[in-house]
Amino acid sequence: MTIAYLNGDFLPLEETRISPLDRGFLFGDGIYEVVPSYGGRMVGFGPHIERMKNGLAAIDIKLDWTEERWHEVCDRLLAENGGGDLGIYLHVSRGADTQRNHAYPEGVEPTVFGYTFDIPPAPVADRSTTKTYSVTTTEDLRWRRCNIKSTALLGNVIHYNQGQGEGTDEAVLYNAAGEITEAAACNVFIVKDGVVITPDTDHQILPGITRLLLVEILRADGSIPVEERVVTLDELRHADEVWLTSSTKEVAPVVMVDGAPVGNGQPGEVWERAQALFSEYKYDY
Ligand code: PDD
Repeated sequence: MTIAYLNGDFLPLEETRISPLDRGFLFGDGIYEVVPSYGGRMVGFGPHIERMKNGLAAIDIKLDWTEERWHEVCDRLLAENGGGDLGIYLHVSRGADTQRNHAYPEGVEPTVFGYTFDIPPAPVADRSTTKTYSVTTTEDLRWRRCNIKSTALLGNVIHYNQGQGEGTDEAVLYNAAGEITEAAACNVFIVKDGVVITPDTDHQILPGITRLLLVEILRADGSIPVEERVVTLDELRHADEVWLTSSTKEVAPVVMVDGAPVGNGQPGEVWERAQALFSEYKYDY
């Protein structure tokens, strides 16, 4: 039985109830986070909460929770749910008004919800045993505020299902200029001639916390050069390695893009080193 948090109470997930007038339900008017944790240790907690605060401020949802308060809720959720390999889902919507109205309501309390779900064990940096991924590419047809981690995920859901419909794991998205943005639920990295390259953070992508940690960890180590810049679809197709990053996958090696092998069709050497460094330093942030 999963124990959830809803508006001040911890209770079984199946007993949680919200109003159908909740603006999260009606409009996708909310912000969410997914914080990974292994054996009760969270990865990137501070950056995750900071991103949520930025998202709430961007859409003017007023919730004056401190980082400590979020920490207490997350610690309790982990303790109540066994503290194994768990993702913590946190969700703040603008709350339930008395009627459906597009205008931001006055005096409505935000709805705060959290629960945990099982995630795979953290990947081990071993090229011969790691799970590999295949992707489809498709034009990014989402909105121009993708830096906000909004619960309104229909665009991402459609793209993700395009990838699944093609029999692949994910959909990698490119804009009208043929530049990679991100994937439906991950950020994207390529490796070319030993250099790790990932698209800049702007309105076209979610500033992923795994992406942030990985870039910082690689730069602190210094043995692998990292560039944040435009990555074209053509570069993706000719990359030596392609990776996806997300809180529930860490650094995931892609071996197939649109049915064609990436490099030699196996997870790469640079991936192995990067995932090893990520595993070593991920709790430091
Ligand atoms: N997805 N880009 C998008 C569109 C995402 O939805 C995610 C994460 C990422 C990676 O961000 P991070 O490293 O902070 O997890 C990039 C989460 C896990 C989800 O929606 O379940």
